[in-house]
Amino acid sequence: MKQTVILRCIDCGKEYEPSAIYRCSCNALLEVVLDTEKLKETVSRKLFDSRLWSRREPYHSGVWRFKELVHPLVSDEQIISRPEGNTNIYKHKKIREYTGIKDILLKHEGENPTGSFKDRGISPGISEANRLGMKVVACASTGNTSASLAAYASIGSMKSVVFVPEGKIAMGKLSQAIAYGARVLEVNGNFDDAMSLVQKSSNELGMYLLNSINPWRIEGQKSIIFELIQQFDWKPPDWIIVPAGNLGNTSAFGKALDEMKKLDLIEKIPRIAAIQAEGANPFYETWKNKRSELKSLKNPETIASAIKIGNPVSWKKALRAIKTTNGLVEQVSDQEIMDAKAIVDSSGIGCEPASAASVAGAKKLLEDGIIDRDEQIVCIITGNLLKDTDSTINYHLSNLKGIKPKYSNKPIVIESTIEAVKEAIGL
Ligand SMILES: Cc1ncc(COP(=O)(O)O)c(C=O)c1O
Ligand SMILES: [Zn+2]
Repeated sequence: MKQTVILRCIDCGKEYEPSAIYRCSCNALLEVVLDTEKLKETVSRKLFDSRLWSRREPYHSGVWRFKELVHPLVSDEQIISRPEGNTNIYKHKKIREYTGIKDILLKHEGENPTGSFKDRGISPGISEANRLGMKVVACASTGNTSASLAAYASIGSMKSVVFVPEGKIAMGKLSQAIAYGARVLEVNGNFDDAMSLVQKSSNELGMYLLNSINPWRIEGQKSIIFELIQQFDWKPPDWIIVPAGNLGNTSAFGKALDEMKKLDLIEKIPRIAAIQAEGANPFYETWKNKRSELKSLKNPETIASAIKIGNPVSWKKALRAIKTTNGLVEQVSDQEIMDAKAIVDSSGIGCEPASAASVAGAKKLLEDGIIDRDEQIVCIITGNLLKDTDSTINYHLSNLKGIKPKYSNKPIVIESTIEAVKEAIGL
C-alpha cells in the first residue's frame, strides 16, 4: 500500500512534498505528517511484536522496526543503519532511594551505536539524504550529533561537515567526530552561533542539514517512545522524564505519543517532564511564565555541555508536546545534575552529565509533590558515561568550580606494599 507523507508548516499549515527543505516560506519549522487513518489498516501492536528478535534488515533495528511510523518513503536499499536502538531499561535500589520513587526506571539511550540517542534520528535523516541523492551532510553540534553524523556518513560513503563550538564540547565526542572522518569545523562562539552558521552554509553550499530542525530527525527519535512502550507490553508509564536542550526529543516524544493514541497502540498518554539546566533554561522560563514567545539566552552556562543551549530551535514543537501530554518543564542546578550522575554511575549504569538531569528532575518533582511516589517513572538516559570523562573525574577530585561532590570516590595514591593496600581498603 502506498502511503502519503507530506511536510507541513507548524505555523501556517502550508504543505510541501518531502525534499531538502527544513523551513516553510514563513520561516517556521516543518513536520512530517503521517496519514494515521490509512496507517490504521496496516500497523498494530502485533505487527511490531512480530518483528521483535528479527534478524532481518532493517527490522532488527529499534528504529526501523517501526518503519511505517518513522520513514515510510525510503526503500530498504536506501536505509543506512548500524543498527540502532534496542536499548535496555534498568532499575536500581540506589536510584529508588536517592529519588524516593518506588518504581523508577532508566532507559539507556547511551547504548546506541555511537553512545547517544542521536543515532535514532540520524539513521532516518541520512537515509532521506540518500533517497534525495545528497552527497554532503552537515550539522551543528554540542558533540553527540557530530559523532553520530560522522559515523553514519562514513557508513553511507558520504562526506560530513560538522560545526562545533570551539573548546566547548567534550573530548570523547570530538574524538569520535574526528576518528569517524568528518570535516570538523570549530566555530569561534557557542552552540547557537554554530547552529546559525550551519543553517546559512547548508542552504548556500547544497549540504543536507541534519540538525533536529530536520523533520526526519524527529521521526527517528520518536522510536525511543515506541520502543519503550513496546518494552512495557504497550502499557505506558505515568511519566517520561527527559533532559531538554535543543528540544528535539521533547518534540519527538509528544508527536510519538499523539500518533500512538490515534493509532490505538496505547490507551492513555503519559505525562512528559522536560528538564533543563538552570544556567541554560530558556524553555523553562517560557513555560513557567506562560509566554507565547521564547526569550533566548545569550550566554548559557552549565557543566552539562550537551544541553548548554540558549536558543533551542524546536521550542514551539516542544511546547505543543508539553501541552498535549499535560506535561511540564523543570530546571535543575549543576550540583543536582552531578550528584544525580554520581548515583547513576555508582549504580553501575553510568551516563554523561546532561543525561542525569532527568534523574535529578525526578527527585525534584517528587520533593515538590508533583510526582507521586507510587507512580511509575521512566527517565531517559541520553548519553554514555565515556562521552565526557573530564567532568566525571573532576567531580570526584573536587575540581569543579561551585560544585561540592557529595558522592566523591577519589582514587588513593599508595606505596607498593601490602600494608598500604590494607590501610587503603580498610581490611
Ligand atoms: C546527551 C544529550 N542529552 C540531551 C540532549 C538534549 O536533547 P534535545 O536537544 O533533544 O533537547 C543532547 C543533545 O545534544 C545530548 O547530546
Ligand atoms: Zn509556514
